[in-house]
Amino acid sequence: MRAAARQLMKVFVTRRIPPEGEAVLAQAGVCSIQQWDSDEPIPQSELLAKVAGKDGLLCLLSDRIDKEVLDAAGPTLKVISTLSVGYDHLAIDEIKKRGIRVGYTPDVLTDATAELTVALLLATSRRLPESVEEVKNGGWTTWKPLWMCGYGLSGSTVGIIGLGRIGQAVARRLKPFGVKRFLYTGHHPKPEAAAEFGAEFVPLAILAEESDFIIVTCSLTPDTQGMCNRDFFHKMKKTALFINSSRGAVVNQDDLYDALVKGHIAAAGLDVTSPEPLPPAHPLLSLKNCVILPHIGSATYATRNTMSVLAANNLLAGLKGESMPSELSL
Ligand code: NDP
Ligand code: DGY
Repeated sequence: MRAAARQLMKVFVTRRIPPEGEAVLAQAGVCSIQQWDSDEPIPQSELLAKVAGKDGLLCLLSDRIDKEVLDAAGPTLKVISTLSVGYDHLAIDEIKKRGIRVGYTPDVLTDATAELTVALLLATSRRLPESVEEVKNGGWTTWKPLWMCGYGLSGSTVGIIGLGRIGQAVARRLKPFGVKRFLYTGHHPKPEAAAEFGAEFVPLAILAEESDFIIVTCSLTPDTQGMCNRDFFHKMKKTALFINSSRGAVVNQDDLYDALVKGHIAAAGLDVTSPEPLPPAHPLLSLKNCVILPHIGSATYATRNTMSVLAANNLLAGLKGESMPSELSL
């Protein structure tokens, strides 16, 4: 019994995760688990101490797994499993150099995130938070012909930056609203995926100029960082809306603020910001034409539970040297 206990691999989990995922790890019998038993992020100094000598690491998108953390973990670390589909918080080059495998959670959160993106678009375009506030504060005095008017999807052009899993799921949900034309950008055309929506592959500048609604669903990479900047917002129609459910750093937020204040664009809806959380005094939060959510794209109970099970199973498979249910190809 003691010999078996000595052979258990060592895992560190950087946060409390949903119970289903915790149960999968606990019942597997292949690892001893140390966990940051909190809903708040682990301080970096604690992470550096706790990760030392571990075989596996289960982390969140808010944990920055950089060279310092990998050095602190040392040569025992074989697998990193992130409870997210995005992996911009992982130093992929360093991870690759060390031969560490990475698990992530694609697909299982696509529907929830697409649903939230549509909800954010409608909340922004039809001014829902502003309208609710007016009801509460007495601003609703009578029915007025142009009061609280917004923009509708019917007959519109929707531009999607990144027609990946989530981008396609958003387009699929928007099509029945009567969208007339879909545009998209990316590294290369995706004729099969685009056929479902009759979507046209265009350069970013054309997408900016011709769309009534722009939705960002790409991954954050060195190429996409700061991609939505002054030049981009100035190309957009004054009546167009900008929606981002990818990562905050795709947007230059100072330029977005300027575009919203000066009326270069009509409104923005953001599920993601830089930094997260956005400080309550941030200028974007003072604008009526900017709706900001606290990164809740995948936040349904079922989705988060499923993500935790997938992340746990990725970690276990990596520890055992087996193929992972969802391994990132490095
Ligand atoms: P996919 O990998 O399926 O899609 C990513 C897309 O980004 C691809 O279509 C890719 O295009 C595109 N892309 C990459 N570089 C560029 C570029 N320079 N210009 C335009 N498009 C580009 O990932 P998912 O759809 O599953 O997830 C996308 C992202 O959404 C995640 O990386 C994550 O950051 C974010 N996310 C946010 C959530 C939230 O809670 N708000 C929830 C889940 C995910 P190509 O194929 O041509 O390379
Ligand atoms: C992800 O998975 O990348 C999201 O941002 C959170 O679900």
